[in-house]
Amino acid sequence: MSAARPLEGHTALVTGGSRGLGAATARRLARMGAVVIVTYRAQQDAAEAVVADCRAATPGARAEHLDLLDEDSVRALFARMTERGDHLDVLVANAAATAFKPLLDLKLHQIDKTFAITVRHFLLMVQLAFPLLEPRGGRIVAVSGADTVGYIPGHGLLAAAKAGMETIVRYLACELGPRGVTAVGILPGYVDTDSIKLMTGPFHAKLVAAEEQTHPLRTAASPEDASEAIALVCLPEARWLNGQIVSNDGAGIFAYMGRFGQAWAMVPDEMVMPDVAGAPLLGGEADPPS
Ligand SMILES: NC(=O)c1ccc[n+]([C@@H]2O[C@H](COP(=O)([O-])OP(=O)(O)OC[C@H]3O[C@@H](n4cnc5c(N)ncnc54)[C@H](OP(=O)(O)O)[C@@H]3O)[C@@H](O)[C@H]2O)c1
Repeated sequence: MSAARPLEGHTALVTGGSRGLGAATARRLARMGAVVIVTYRAQQDAAEAVVADCRAATPGARAEHLDLLDEDSVRALFARMTERGDHLDVLVANAAATAFKPLLDLKLHQIDKTFAITVRHFLLMVQLAFPLLEPRGGRIVAVSGADTVGYIPGHGLLAAAKAGMETIVRYLACELGPRGVTAVGILPGYVDTDSIKLMTGPFHAKLVAAEEQTHPLRTAASPEDASEAIALVCLPEARWLNGQIVSNDGAGIFAYMGRFGQAWAMVPDEMVMPDVAGAPLLGGEADPPS
Protein backbone atom coordinates (compact mmCIF):
# COMPACT_ATOMS: atom_id res chain seq x y z
CA MET A 1 0.00 0.00 0.00
CA SER A 2 1.21 3.52 -0.81
CA ALA A 3 -0.18 6.88 0.25
CA ALA A 4 -1.36 7.51 -3.30
CA ARG A 5 -2.94 4.05 -3.66
CA PRO A 6 -4.26 3.26 -0.20
CA LEU A 7 -6.61 0.54 -1.49
CA GLU A 8 -3.90 -1.46 -3.28
CA GLY A 9 -4.69 -5.16 -2.88
CA HIS A 10 -8.33 -4.44 -2.00
CA THR A 11 -11.38 -5.54 -3.96
CA ALA A 12 -14.51 -3.38 -4.01
CA LEU A 13 -17.94 -4.12 -5.45
CA VAL A 14 -20.01 -1.07 -6.42
CA THR A 15 -23.69 -1.64 -7.21
CA GLY A 16 -25.20 0.64 -9.84
CA GLY A 17 -21.71 1.48 -11.07
CA SER A 18 -22.76 1.99 -14.68
CA ARG A 19 -23.49 5.69 -14.26
CA GLY A 20 -23.88 8.62 -11.88
CA LEU A 21 -22.44 8.44 -8.40
CA GLY A 22 -21.71 4.71 -8.66
CA ALA A 23 -19.58 5.20 -11.78
CA ALA A 24 -17.63 8.07 -10.21
CA THR A 25 -17.10 5.99 -7.06
CA ALA A 26 -15.90 2.98 -9.05
CA ARG A 27 -13.39 5.09 -10.97
CA ARG A 28 -12.13 6.78 -7.80
CA LEU A 29 -11.69 3.48 -5.92
CA ALA A 30 -9.74 2.09 -8.88
CA ARG A 31 -7.49 5.18 -8.88
CA MET A 32 -6.89 4.45 -5.19
CA GLY A 33 -5.66 0.97 -6.12
CA ALA A 34 -8.74 -1.22 -5.67
CA VAL A 35 -9.81 -3.93 -8.08
CA VAL A 36 -13.38 -2.84 -8.77
CA ILE A 37 -16.39 -4.97 -9.66
CA VAL A 38 -19.02 -2.74 -11.27
CA THR A 39 -22.61 -3.94 -11.34
CA TYR A 40 -25.21 -2.79 -13.83
CA ARG A 41 -28.87 -3.61 -14.37
CA ALA A 42 -29.56 -2.62 -17.98
CA GLN A 43 -26.70 -0.47 -19.25
CA GLN A 44 -23.97 -3.03 -19.89
CA ASP A 45 -22.15 -0.81 -22.40
CA ALA A 46 -21.99 2.05 -19.92
CA ALA A 47 -20.73 -0.34 -17.24
CA GLU A 48 -18.04 -1.71 -19.59
CA ALA A 49 -16.86 1.86 -20.29
CA VAL A 50 -16.52 2.47 -16.53
CA VAL A 51 -14.69 -0.85 -16.20
CA ALA A 52 -12.23 0.18 -18.94
CA ASP A 53 -11.41 3.35 -16.96
CA CYS A 54 -11.06 1.33 -13.76
CA ARG A 55 -8.76 -1.20 -15.44
CA ALA A 56 -6.54 1.59 -16.74
CA ALA A 57 -5.99 2.58 -13.11
CA THR A 58 -5.89 -0.92 -11.58
CA PRO A 59 -6.00 -4.15 -13.57
CA GLY A 60 -8.66 -6.74 -12.81
CA ALA A 61 -11.84 -4.65 -12.89
CA ARG A 62 -14.91 -6.29 -14.37
CA ALA A 63 -18.63 -5.74 -14.86
CA GLU A 64 -21.28 -8.03 -13.41
CA HIS A 65 -25.03 -8.07 -13.99
CA LEU A 66 -27.17 -7.45 -10.92
CA ASP A 67 -30.88 -6.68 -10.82
CA LEU A 68 -31.82 -5.79 -7.27
CA LEU A 69 -35.49 -6.29 -8.10
CA ASP A 70 -34.78 -9.97 -8.64
CA GLU A 71 -33.80 -12.20 -5.72
CA ASP A 72 -32.36 -14.82 -8.09
CA SER A 73 -30.12 -12.23 -9.71
CA VAL A 74 -28.68 -11.28 -6.31
CA ARG A 75 -28.08 -14.93 -5.43
CA ALA A 76 -26.56 -15.65 -8.84
CA LEU A 77 -24.02 -12.80 -8.56
CA PHE A 78 -22.70 -14.02 -5.22
CA ALA A 79 -22.73 -17.66 -6.37
CA ARG A 80 -20.53 -16.61 -9.34
CA MET A 81 -18.22 -14.68 -7.04
CA THR A 82 -17.94 -17.56 -4.57
CA GLU A 83 -17.24 -19.97 -7.42
CA ARG A 84 -14.41 -17.73 -8.66
CA GLY A 85 -12.93 -17.55 -5.17
CA ASP A 86 -13.46 -13.78 -4.95
CA HIS A 87 -12.93 -11.98 -1.70
CA LEU A 88 -14.33 -8.55 -0.88
CA ASP A 89 -12.90 -5.70 1.15
CA VAL A 90 -15.66 -3.22 0.37
CA LEU A 91 -19.28 -3.52 -0.70
CA VAL A 92 -20.74 -0.19 -1.82
CA ALA A 93 -24.54 -0.44 -2.00
CA ASN A 94 -25.22 2.49 -4.30
CA ALA A 95 -27.91 1.36 -6.76
CA ALA A 96 -31.40 2.78 -6.33
CA ALA A 97 -34.62 3.28 -8.25
CA THR A 98 -38.04 4.44 -7.16
CA ALA A 99 -41.17 6.33 -8.14
CA PHE A 100 -41.01 10.02 -7.26
CA LYS A 101 -44.65 10.72 -6.38
CA PRO A 102 -46.66 12.10 -3.49
CA LEU A 103 -47.42 9.31 -1.02
CA LEU A 104 -51.15 9.30 -1.80
CA ASP A 105 -50.48 8.62 -5.48
CA LEU A 106 -48.17 5.65 -5.06
CA LYS A 107 -49.09 2.19 -6.34
CA LEU A 108 -48.33 -0.86 -4.27
CA HIS A 109 -45.95 -2.26 -6.89
CA GLN A 110 -43.90 0.93 -6.68
CA ILE A 111 -43.66 0.57 -2.90
CA ASP A 112 -42.69 -3.10 -3.25
CA LYS A 113 -40.02 -2.38 -5.86
CA THR A 114 -38.45 0.49 -3.93
CA PHE A 115 -38.28 -1.57 -0.74
CA ALA A 116 -37.04 -4.62 -2.69
CA ILE A 117 -34.00 -2.72 -3.96
CA THR A 118 -33.19 -0.65 -0.90
CA VAL A 119 -34.20 -2.89 2.00
CA ARG A 120 -35.03 -6.53 1.11
CA HIS A 121 -32.30 -7.19 -1.42
CA PHE A 122 -29.83 -4.81 0.20
CA LEU A 123 -30.02 -7.05 3.26
CA LEU A 124 -29.92 -10.23 1.17
CA MET A 125 -26.83 -8.89 -0.58
CA VAL A 126 -25.18 -8.20 2.78
CA GLN A 127 -26.00 -11.73 3.94
CA LEU A 128 -24.48 -13.24 0.80
CA ALA A 129 -21.47 -10.91 0.79
CA PHE A 130 -20.63 -11.49 4.44
CA PRO A 131 -18.63 -14.72 3.90
CA LEU A 132 -16.53 -12.85 1.33
CA LEU A 133 -16.07 -9.83 3.60
CA GLU A 134 -15.38 -11.53 6.94
CA PRO A 135 -11.92 -13.00 6.17
CA ARG A 136 -10.75 -9.54 5.06
CA GLY A 137 -12.30 -7.51 7.88
CA GLY A 138 -14.34 -5.81 5.19
CA ARG A 139 -16.60 -2.77 5.05
CA ILE A 140 -20.20 -2.30 3.95
CA VAL A 141 -20.94 1.20 2.64
CA ALA A 142 -24.61 2.03 2.06
CA VAL A 143 -25.59 5.13 0.09
CA SER A 144 -28.60 6.85 1.59
CA GLY A 145 -29.80 10.37 0.74
CA ALA A 146 -30.77 13.78 2.03
CA ASP A 147 -34.47 12.91 1.80
CA THR A 148 -34.19 11.00 5.11
CA VAL A 149 -33.31 14.19 6.98
CA GLY A 150 -35.36 16.81 5.14
CA TYR A 151 -38.53 16.98 3.05
CA ILE A 152 -38.03 16.73 -0.70
CA PRO A 153 -41.26 16.71 -2.72
CA GLY A 154 -42.01 13.29 -4.19
CA HIS A 155 -39.30 11.53 -2.17
CA GLY A 156 -41.42 10.07 0.65
CA LEU A 157 -41.21 6.49 -0.57
CA LEU A 158 -37.48 6.48 -1.29
CA ALA A 159 -36.82 8.30 2.00
CA ALA A 160 -38.76 5.64 3.91
CA ALA A 161 -36.76 2.85 2.27
CA LYS A 162 -33.45 4.68 2.78
CA ALA A 163 -34.33 5.27 6.43
CA GLY A 164 -34.78 1.50 6.68
CA MET A 165 -31.40 1.01 5.03
CA GLU A 166 -29.80 3.40 7.53
CA THR A 167 -31.30 1.44 10.42
CA ILE A 168 -29.96 -1.79 8.94
CA VAL A 169 -26.50 -0.16 8.76
CA ARG A 170 -26.62 0.70 12.47
CA TYR A 171 -27.71 -2.84 13.38
CA LEU A 172 -25.09 -4.38 11.11
CA ALA A 173 -22.48 -2.26 12.86
CA CYS A 174 -23.41 -3.88 16.17
CA GLU A 175 -23.99 -7.42 14.88
CA LEU A 176 -21.02 -7.68 12.49
CA GLY A 177 -18.54 -5.47 14.34
CA PRO A 178 -17.60 -8.27 16.75
CA ARG A 179 -16.80 -10.39 13.68
CA GLY A 180 -14.57 -7.72 12.16
CA VAL A 181 -16.90 -6.39 9.46
CA THR A 182 -17.93 -2.74 9.72
CA ALA A 183 -20.85 -0.82 8.18
CA VAL A 184 -21.13 2.87 7.32
CA GLY A 185 -23.92 4.88 5.73
CA ILE A 186 -23.23 7.87 3.53
CA LEU A 187 -25.70 10.67 2.98
CA PRO A 188 -25.21 12.85 -0.09
CA GLY A 189 -27.13 16.04 -0.71
CA TYR A 190 -27.86 17.17 -4.26
CA VAL A 191 -25.63 15.35 -6.77
CA ASP A 192 -25.83 16.53 -10.37
CA THR A 193 -26.22 13.18 -12.12
CA ASP A 194 -27.81 12.47 -15.49
CA SER A 195 -30.85 10.99 -13.80
CA ILE A 196 -31.37 14.22 -11.87
CA LYS A 197 -31.15 16.10 -15.17
CA LEU A 198 -33.76 13.81 -16.67
CA MET A 199 -36.03 14.00 -13.65
CA THR A 200 -35.99 17.78 -13.31
CA GLY A 201 -36.20 18.53 -17.04
CA PRO A 202 -36.63 22.26 -17.70
CA PHE A 203 -36.03 23.05 -14.01
CA HIS A 204 -32.52 21.57 -13.99
CA ALA A 205 -30.63 24.73 -14.93
CA LYS A 206 -32.34 26.69 -12.15
CA LEU A 207 -31.57 23.99 -9.60
CA VAL A 208 -27.90 24.03 -10.56
CA ALA A 209 -27.84 27.84 -10.43
CA ALA A 210 -29.42 27.73 -6.95
CA GLU A 211 -26.71 25.33 -5.78
CA GLU A 212 -23.98 27.46 -7.32
CA GLN A 213 -25.28 30.62 -5.70
CA THR A 214 -26.33 29.36 -2.26
CA HIS A 215 -24.50 26.12 -1.38
CA PRO A 216 -21.72 26.77 1.14
CA LEU A 217 -19.22 25.39 -1.39
CA ARG A 218 -20.79 27.47 -4.20
CA THR A 219 -21.18 24.57 -6.61
CA ALA A 220 -23.64 21.86 -7.56
CA ALA A 221 -21.90 18.67 -6.42
CA SER A 222 -20.80 16.53 -9.33
CA PRO A 223 -20.72 12.73 -9.01
CA GLU A 224 -16.93 13.11 -8.73
CA ASP A 225 -17.35 15.53 -5.82
CA ALA A 226 -19.78 13.27 -4.00
CA SER A 227 -17.59 10.21 -4.53
CA GLU A 228 -14.76 11.76 -2.49
CA ALA A 229 -16.32 11.01 0.90
CA ILE A 230 -17.55 7.60 -0.24
CA ALA A 231 -13.95 6.71 -1.03
CA LEU A 232 -12.85 8.01 2.36
CA VAL A 233 -15.23 5.71 4.23
CA CYS A 234 -13.85 2.77 2.21
CA LEU A 235 -10.40 3.27 3.74
CA PRO A 236 -9.34 0.79 6.43
CA GLU A 237 -8.77 3.83 8.70
CA ALA A 238 -12.51 4.60 8.66
CA ARG A 239 -13.20 1.55 10.87
CA TRP A 240 -14.33 3.70 13.79
CA LEU A 241 -17.05 5.25 11.63
CA ASN A 242 -18.78 1.90 12.14
CA GLY A 243 -22.54 2.50 12.47
CA GLN A 244 -22.40 6.17 11.47
CA ILE A 245 -24.46 7.78 8.76
CA VAL A 246 -21.91 10.23 7.39
CA SER A 247 -23.22 13.31 5.59
CA ASN A 248 -21.24 14.23 2.49
CA ASP A 249 -23.41 17.17 1.49
CA GLY A 250 -20.78 19.85 2.09
CA ALA A 251 -23.03 21.44 4.75
CA GLY A 252 -25.66 22.09 2.11
CA ILE A 253 -28.44 20.63 4.24
CA PHE A 254 -27.43 22.48 7.42
CA ALA A 255 -27.36 25.69 5.42
CA TYR A 256 -30.87 25.24 4.06
CA MET A 257 -32.67 27.62 6.41
CA GLY A 258 -30.31 30.41 5.45
CA ARG A 259 -30.27 29.44 1.78
CA PHE A 260 -34.04 29.33 1.53
CA GLY A 261 -34.59 32.46 3.60
CA GLN A 262 -32.06 34.41 1.58
CA ALA A 263 -33.52 33.30 -1.73
CA TRP A 264 -37.09 33.97 -0.59
CA ALA A 265 -36.18 37.43 0.67
CA MET A 266 -34.80 38.29 -2.76
CA VAL A 267 -38.01 37.40 -4.62
CA PRO A 268 -39.93 40.56 -5.58
CA ASP A 269 -43.17 40.85 -3.58
CA GLU A 270 -45.39 40.42 -6.65
CA MET A 271 -43.68 37.11 -7.37
CA VAL A 272 -44.11 35.61 -3.92
CA MET A 273 -45.97 32.28 -4.12
CA PRO A 274 -45.19 31.55 -7.76
CA ASP A 275 -47.19 28.77 -9.34
CA VAL A 276 -44.98 25.70 -9.08
CA ALA A 277 -47.67 23.12 -9.77
CA GLY A 278 -46.00 22.19 -13.04
CA ALA A 279 -42.66 21.34 -11.50
CA PRO A 280 -41.96 17.62 -12.00
CA LEU A 281 -40.93 17.03 -8.41
CA LEU A 282 -43.88 18.94 -7.05
CA GLY A 283 -46.63 17.89 -9.39
CA GLY A 284 -46.17 14.20 -8.72
CA GLU A 285 -46.57 13.25 -12.36
CA ALA A 286 -42.96 12.21 -12.93
CA ASP A 287 -42.65 8.58 -13.69
CA PRO A 288 -40.16 6.40 -11.87
CA PRO A 289 -36.71 5.84 -13.18
CA SER A 290 -36.78 2.32 -14.58
N1 LIG B 1 -28.29 12.14 -7.42
C1 LIG B 1 -28.56 12.69 -6.23
O1 LIG B 1 -28.81 13.88 -6.10
C2 LIG B 1 -28.54 11.82 -5.01
C3 LIG B 1 -28.68 12.45 -3.77
C4 LIG B 1 -28.65 11.66 -2.63
C5 LIG B 1 -28.51 10.30 -2.72
N2 LIG B 1 -28.39 9.71 -3.93
C6 LIG B 1 -28.25 8.27 -3.99
O2 LIG B 1 -27.04 7.97 -4.64
C7 LIG B 1 -27.18 6.74 -5.34
C8 LIG B 1 -26.81 6.93 -6.81
O3 LIG B 1 -27.62 7.95 -7.34
P1 LIG B 1 -27.48 8.39 -8.88
O4 LIG B 1 -28.17 9.69 -9.00
O5 LIG B 1 -26.07 8.24 -9.31
O6 LIG B 1 -28.37 7.25 -9.57
P2 LIG B 1 -28.61 6.93 -11.13
O7 LIG B 1 -27.83 7.87 -11.99
O8 LIG B 1 -30.08 6.87 -11.31
O9 LIG B 1 -27.98 5.48 -11.29
C9 LIG B 1 -28.65 4.44 -10.71
C10 LIG B 1 -27.78 3.21 -10.82
O10 LIG B 1 -28.50 2.15 -10.20
C11 LIG B 1 -28.65 1.08 -11.13
N3 LIG B 1 -29.94 0.42 -10.94
C12 LIG B 1 -31.17 0.94 -11.16
N4 LIG B 1 -32.11 0.01 -10.88
C13 LIG B 1 -31.45 -1.11 -10.48
C14 LIG B 1 -31.83 -2.41 -10.10
N5 LIG B 1 -33.12 -2.77 -10.08
N6 LIG B 1 -30.88 -3.31 -9.76
C15 LIG B 1 -29.57 -2.98 -9.79
N7 LIG B 1 -29.12 -1.76 -10.18
C16 LIG B 1 -30.06 -0.84 -10.51
C17 LIG B 1 -28.53 1.69 -12.50
O11 LIG B 1 -28.08 0.68 -13.42
P3 LIG B 1 -28.38 0.80 -15.03
O12 LIG B 1 -27.63 2.01 -15.50
O13 LIG B 1 -27.83 -0.45 -15.61
O14 LIG B 1 -29.87 0.96 -15.16
C18 LIG B 1 -27.50 2.80 -12.23
O15 LIG B 1 -26.19 2.27 -12.31
C19 LIG B 1 -28.61 6.27 -5.13
O16 LIG B 1 -28.66 5.39 -4.05
C20 LIG B 1 -29.33 7.57 -4.78
O17 LIG B 1 -30.49 7.34 -4.01
C21 LIG B 1 -28.40 10.44 -5.10
